[in-house]
Amino acid sequence: MNCTLCKNWKISAQVLRSYTTQMKSLQINKYAPSVDLLNYQLSSPSITNHFLKPDEALVKVHAASINPFDIEMSRGYGRKAINLVRSYANSKEFPLILGRDFSGVVVKSGRLFKRFKRGDPVYGVRWVTGQGTHAEYVIVNKSEISPKPVNLTHIEAASLPYVACTTWSALMDSGAVSIMGSRKLNIFIPGGTGGIGSFAVQLCKAYGHNVTTACAPNGVSILNNIDIYNVLDYTSNTYENDLQNNGPYDVILDTQNERYVNLYKKVLKESSKSKYVSLRPTLLPDTDSKGMTLGLIDAGGKYAKSSIEQLSSGKGQYQWGFFKPNGMVLDHIKPLIENGNIKTLVDKVFPLDDIVNAYKYVEKGHARGKTVIGMVS
Ligand SMILES: NC(=O)c1ccc[n+]([C@@H]2O[C@H](COP(=O)([O-])OP(=O)(O)OC[C@H]3O[C@@H](n4cnc5c(N)ncnc54)[C@H](OP(=O)(O)O)[C@@H]3O)[C@@H](O)[C@H]2O)c1
Repeated sequence: MNCTLCKNWKISAQVLRSYTTQMKSLQINKYAPSVDLLNYQLSSPSITNHFLKPDEALVKVHAASINPFDIEMSRGYGRKAINLVRSYANSKEFPLILGRDFSGVVVKSGRLFKRFKRGDPVYGVRWVTGQGTHAEYVIVNKSEISPKPVNLTHIEAASLPYVACTTWSALMDSGAVSIMGSRKLNIFIPGGTGGIGSFAVQLCKAYGHNVTTACAPNGVSILNNIDIYNVLDYTSNTYENDLQNNGPYDVILDTQNERYVNLYKKVLKESSKSKYVSLRPTLLPDTDSKGMTLGLIDAGGKYAKSSIEQLSSGKGQYQWGFFKPNGMVLDHIKPLIENGNIKTLVDKVFPLDDIVNAYKYVEKGHARGKTVIGMVS
């Protein structure tokens, strides 16, 4: 039968199916101050029949990692600024699927997206305004995706995109560290056992720079296992001296909290070319607490104050580092991963059904690499 009624019925059935079938995911309908208090569902309507824009792809997620940002997002961090961007894209805040990183396989792609075909293994990271990757399927834009490094499992590959894109934006895009290595820099990156630290140290080393990191004593052997040897113990009585003996540093990527700013600035080289890059911009917390206009003014004032103080101390520039999804960065680091210059550091793997315990684990804040959710057993 080829009548209009049947055709319409078929279309309605398809639409109905896409709304009624479910996929596993971590979905929230409101924020909570801690993971313990999170009101969540472990399923949401399937997106496998959703209409794809020409530059989008549907990916079956095989693995997705958890970043501290996912925990912060579950508390409402950045909601005012993120909602402003969502309002331009006509997208809603809730229900919200958390998660940024993914590694998986392309299911289908949009009309103008020819780079990947069904079955291609890919990895990538989603921009903060879109639905997340802690789900069986995700729809991604072409700028958020890249071919998965061939030597990595999906679990390993999912541990990299968010930290890689943040590191690249904070150090390379900002001009703090050169890819060409025309000038060998002495760089300090604390938190070597963390997601950012473990990646950033290896990236700078791969480009020929001298890098020192710091972690608690039980992290040293973990870092040695991925060929990071220049490691200081931040709990040691001699830490400040050790830091000074390895310095002064041309670049510091600050992955820690306010407590260490003065110590780190002390060991920055006295030079107009020095760079202090902080991964704690106050932009989102300020707009959260004061609203967009006052928050932006306040954050701008703080940034200007820190920059002026830094310049007048004769120690170069102060900068903020931000996460920025960028598939080209993932293309760029692929050979470094495949030739062994950058290794992954996976701490724990949880199944999707146990994702809330994985969030609780990351919430404790003593990462030994990345915590990853395995979607496919
Ligand atoms: N601005 C942005 O867009 C952006 C993007 C990504 C991340 N970030 C921020 O960057 C920071 C790092 O992120 P991440 O993903 O690497 O976090 P993470 O995976 O939780 O790692 C943090 C690491 O720091 C170590 N640490 C704690 N105190 C330390 C100290 N005094 N000295 C040296 N290491 C210390 C921790 O281990 P132990 O305490 O057990 O030694 C842990 O391994 C977070 O604050 C995150 O919010 C910002």
